[in-house]
Amino acid sequence: MKKKLVSMILATAMVAATLVGCGNNGSSQTTAPAAEAPAADAEAPAADAEAPAAEAPAAGGGKVGVAMPTKDLQRWNQDGANMQKELEAAGYEVDLQYASNDIQTQVSQIENMINSGCQVLVIASIEGDSLGTVLEQAKEKNIPVIAYDRLIMNSDAVSYYATFDNYMVGTKQGEYIRDHLDLDNADGPFNIELTTGDPGDNNARFFFGGAMDVLQPYIDSGKLVVKSGQTEFEAVATANWSTETAQARMDSIVSANYADGTQLHACLCSNDSTALGVANSLEANYTGEWPIITGQDCDIASVKNMIAGKQSMSIFKDTRTLASKVVEMVDAIMKGGDAPVNDTKSYDNGTGIIPSYLCEPVFADINNYKELLIDSGYYTEADLQ
Ligand code: BGC
Repeated sequence: MKKKLVSMILATAMVAATLVGCGNNGSSQTTAPAAEAPAADAEAPAADAEAPAAEAPAAGGGKVGVAMPTKDLQRWNQDGANMQKELEAAGYEVDLQYASNDIQTQVSQIENMINSGCQVLVIASIEGDSLGTVLEQAKEKNIPVIAYDRLIMNSDAVSYYATFDNYMVGTKQGEYIRDHLDLDNADGPFNIELTTGDPGDNNARFFFGGAMDVLQPYIDSGKLVVKSGQTEFEAVATANWSTETAQARMDSIVSANYADGTQLHACLCSNDSTALGVANSLEANYTGEWPIITGQDCDIASVKNMIAGKQSMSIFKDTRTLASKVVEMVDAIMKGGDAPVNDTKSYDNGTGIIPSYLCEPVFADINNYKELLIDSGYYTEADLQ
């Protein structure tokens, strides 16, 4: 699939831009503080080159460091591959590193990027709060930092943020549940359970916050009932966005609340890896009618589940679109200018507002996935079989 993505990037860029726009669509929340660290579980090699660091970006070529959190999730592989391909096509040298979800590994990789002459850093952090110290070195060397997808917290070295509108991801998930249960007209009550992501990932609070802004009024009125009683962010968070952790938590919820055949109508899941865990648990433990399950990323396993009726929707964040935008931002910076942004109010990383470029997410479900995912060249039919 990587090969296909690579070959289709140029051909599909315009189609993708029409499907998932990067419009001016500011989200409406301010940033919540990030919390504890996800578990560290693996080793990854650090970059090894030794070369003088750049003092300022130069026009025409140059080296860009791209730090990604993990290869474990499909999306980060696509993000990294798309960015590398596009940056190289634009004439830049790329140092692309994956950190196996290990914070210290990511810190060393970034340190090596700084010391090996990278002139701009693009970083999808593992934990938003853990990069302040290493990024001081980037700041000292005037190396601009673009936070990729996840905001880097409490560091004034962050120059820009590029992401899909995280709050809107959450509202779209909440609206999907609201509309498909017809909460404004149906009598209910309906049972719902909630699952979100890693507490150290600032995005998780935006996803959950956006969804709860839609759903909370129905919980308050009693039309939606959370039988487990777990509604607070900390209670529904999933360390490392782990499928197994989400599955184990759902096992307990089902056995305590739904084992007697009580109907579960909806499961809010903030992304596909947690949605998979919830679906696995229900398949093993639940006998009632299958609930609505939300997700995010349109990972292949989840799109297959969607086709099989085991996941209702997923948010489609076309990684080609975000990668192209970030390449534009890098290029503008390298040429001595300002990067394009479309939001200067939503994302405060604790040191002030970070100028951001927010791309607009869309939802995919059984009715539109072919148009969004196959016709646009994101996947082939064969990928989804
Ligand atoms: C990303 C999601 C992804 C999750 C787990 C979030 O920061 O925005 O797209 O599913 O991390 O990797």
